[in-house]
Amino acid sequence: MTPREKHIIITGASRGFGRDLAMHMAESGTVLHLIARSDMSALVHELEARGAEVRTWKQDLTQTAELHDLISRIAESISKQDTGFLGLVNNAGMIDPVGPAGKYSYDAYKSNLEINFVAPILLTHAFIQHFQDWDVVKRVIMISSGASKKPYHGWSHYCSTKAGVDMFSRTAGIEQTKQRHPVEIMAFNPGRIATDMQKTIRETSEEDFPMVHDFISAWKEGVIGDSREVAGRLSRLMLAEFFPSGEILSHRDI
Ligand SMILES: NC(=O)c1ccc[n+]([C@@H]2O[C@H](COP(=O)([O-])OP(=O)(O)OC[C@H]3O[C@@H](n4cnc5c(N)ncnc54)[C@H](OP(=O)(O)O)[C@@H]3O)[C@@H](O)[C@H]2O)c1
Repeated sequence: MTPREKHIIITGASRGFGRDLAMHMAESGTVLHLIARSDMSALVHELEARGAEVRTWKQDLTQTAELHDLISRIAESISKQDTGFLGLVNNAGMIDPVGPAGKYSYDAYKSNLEINFVAPILLTHAFIQHFQDWDVVKRVIMISSGASKKPYHGWSHYCSTKAGVDMFSRTAGIEQTKQRHPVEIMAFNPGRIATDMQKTIRETSEEDFPMVHDFISAWKEGVIGDSREVAGRLSRLMLAEFFPSGEILSHRDI
């Protein structure tokens, strides 16, 4: 009998932590569904060389009215009888515009809320709607942040969206325990990792983000996490026998 396929959807897969997750998850028998706005053809070649099948879905996640249709199209591309595992990693995120609430344009602030909070929750909602009855292992990881627990001046949108994502994971995690074929859901804080987002943070002004010097020092001292290494650990957890559904874990826990 042919082993059943794993289908894993990753948002924000074009670079940074999402790209590193895709690299770790790429293997024969796995179909990766990569979502981002940028062209990912070079990445697709690398992942295919590792044995994975790759499907790319170009999508601006701030267009939240389109996300149910996106998950429908992905679901239509998956054969139920050939599938043994379904995963969704809500990884795409942004920190801009950094500065106190009220300072920047309404639209820029709104985009931040859409990408960090509205899109991950709606994608998970649609994922549950489409796959609830499938008798396969189903797992969702919401990429959170230490900022979900600590207020940073200049990050009111980011801190509150990540706190919201944590609470969604806990709540939906409880709800799913009542289901015959549950979707397991957890939130994960990768810690400070060396990606473009950290570069953006280091380039913000002290006025907008008074803690900027702490982030610059951490970078200079090399005490910032390795995105590839953390992604490797999280990828193993995604496929491990035990998955801590309903919990909020950090890079220190796994
Ligand atoms: N870096 C850190 O230190 C750190 C710490 C804690 C938590 N995190 C979290 O880790 C996750 C990954 O962050 P990262 O550091 O890897 O960030 P990154 O390097 O800036 O990458 C962000 C990813 O999100 C995608 N993205 C951004 N806006 C999008 C949009 N409107 N539509 C679709 N895709 C969009 C980007 O793809 P395109 O530009 O191609 O669309 C890119 O693939 C985020 O949730 C972040 O909050 C990061």
